[in-house]
Amino acid sequence: MDAAKSAVFDHPSENAIARLVDEFYARIRADAVLGPVFTRAIPGDWGPHLATMRNFWSSVMTASGRYKGNPVAVHGRVDGIELAMFDRWLALFEATCRELFEPALAVEFQAKAARIAESLKLALFYRPDRPWPIESPIDAS
Ligand code: HEM
Repeated sequence: MDAAKSAVFDHPSENAIARLVDEFYARIRADAVLGPVFTRAIPGDWGPHLATMRNFWSSVMTASGRYKGNPVAVHGRVDGIELAMFDRWLALFEATCRELFEPALAVEFQAKAARIAESLKLALFYRPDRPWPIESPIDAS
């Protein structure tokens, strides 16, 4: 087994979060569906986004308070975001967590991600005049 694969984290250290963020967004950028949405929103330097995401996961997993932002407002401005993309986002996130983390830690991250995804989906796509959950892909407009 090579060194990178054997580095399995069992708590949400800075290092663990940094690896997660790097690996996850590498997969996102390579993904046929999600890649173009992200590339459109972040055409240049990914450094600031990766730093924001490290702060975000640090705040979520350790209550460090390092992330100060408004994910609903930010995603509301993401051109091309669709409800159906969330399952794909979560699947990539889950695969990354499983690869890098001990099972118990992977489950903790996934549970947080799933809850946040649900609240983003509701905030962006729920309308009182149509059924929820919605099965078919729709756009944010
Ligand atoms: C369909 C699924 C998703 C898509 C396409 C998506 C796309 C994006 C994009 C393009 C940005 C960068 C926006 C910019 O800087 O202009 C962003 C930022 C962000 N995303 Fe997502 N996202 C998705 C789901 C999620 C989920 C499930 C979470 C959390 C579990 C999340 C957390 C964040 C956070 C914290 C930011 C930074 C917000 C800020 O700048 O303060 N995203 N997302």
